Amino acid sequence: MTTNALTDSARLAPETERSVVPVPQRALGALTVPAVGYGAMVLSPGMYGEINDDHALRALHHAVDSGSSFIDTSDAYGGGHNESLIARLLKDRRDEVTIATKFGLLLDDSIEPHRFPVGFKFGELAVNASPELVRPFAEASLRRLGIDVIDLYYPHFPDPIVPIEDTVGAMAELVDAGLIRGIGLSNITVDQLRAALTVYPIDAIQVEWSMWTPIDRDLLDLCRREAVGIVAWSPLGSGFLSGAVTEVASGDFREHAPRFDAPNLTVNRARFASLWDTAVELDLRPTELALAWLLHQYEHVVAIPGSRTPAHIGSNAQSATVRLHADTLAAIGRLLDNIDVEGSGLLS
Ligand SMILES: NC(=O)c1ccc[n+]([C@@H]2O[C@H](COP(=O)([O-])OP(=O)(O)OC[C@H]3O[C@@H](n4cnc5c(N)ncnc54)[C@H](OP(=O)(O)O)[C@@H]3O)[C@@H](O)[C@H]2O)c1
Repeated sequence: MTTNALTDSARLAPETERSVVPVPQRALGALTVPAVGYGAMVLSPGMYGEINDDHALRALHHAVDSGSSFIDTSDAYGGGHNESLIARLLKDRRDEVTIATKFGLLLDDSIEPHRFPVGFKFGELAVNASPELVRPFAEASLRRLGIDVIDLYYPHFPDPIVPIEDTVGAMAELVDAGLIRGIGLSNITVDQLRAALTVYPIDAIQVEWSMWTPIDRDLLDLCRREAVGIVAWSPLGSGFLSGAVTEVASGDFREHAPRFDAPNLTVNRARFASLWDTAVELDLRPTELALAWLLHQYEHVVAIPGSRTPAHIGSNAQSATVRLHADTLAAIGRLLDNIDVEGSGLLS
């Protein structure tokens, strides 16, 4: 096994020689979860291309076997498909899993859409997080998941019309009723989090955060002050940070993100090349460096990478065991400060 001067931990013998160690746990408010969980969105058709349920179920089992037993889903992924798929895992392994889901984005015709703009190619999204809908949304998710209680529940997006305090007030009633254990807020701003915290303790927020999508510093500071957990979505930059994405196929949702446009992707790959060289110098895969770097940014941040590939799922989980030296973190910080990402993201 090699020991690199810039990592505290000895890492990266060839794959077959690596030992697998338990994934460290972190607190998200009152919950304790693995530092690297699993984002299940990748398992529904229509996001990263087609996938069949048997393949998807094997990936879910592998995530739990690898220690990434904090599973993130939403009622909107695959229009309910993702939760129903996860039900097949939970049927046998409920006690091993911390399950997080989201509501407000899957609207049937009876629900008024509250529209808001996102990234210039994606156009707009519509949500409804009205207090009277919160319990019906939760009951529908519980039915699809085939369980009695959701461990962590989020509105997928703040409602542009409904005050966040009203949504959170209705979620607090779900805690009292025993339908959910913890309250999270997804895609939240610092002002919205501040307002929500006046109503009820917030266990975690969920925001996009990775080496190519920085977090809002004021939001991070508020989370630090209030010990609110952060669940980082797309922690691998929707795969970009693996260094392996050279093009995006038609029908892949990333085609909606300008930073994945062919010309921008070429530029962005060139700009991140030195970072991937750093990973090689550290005997880490680019994805391992990306996840380890993220976990070093805040003691209560948890990453939820998505993957359909068993070897990737295992490697991602083990990234939580990599300790980076302060000098390495400083050097990476300088590199990232000097990279301008070409093109906006999916939602920004
Ligand atoms: N709250 C929100 O609004 C929101 C929005 C988006 C996402 N999310 C959550 O965040 C989760 C993760 O997001 P995401 O899946 O879009 O992005 P991601 O985790 O940043 O990237 C996923 C992509 O990375 C690739 N990948 C993963 N591990 C790899 C490895 N070790 N080596 C090489 N490639 C690797 C996957 O391909 P393979 O399958 O080949 O490994 C997949 O194409 C979602 O599942 C969802 O739960 C939340």
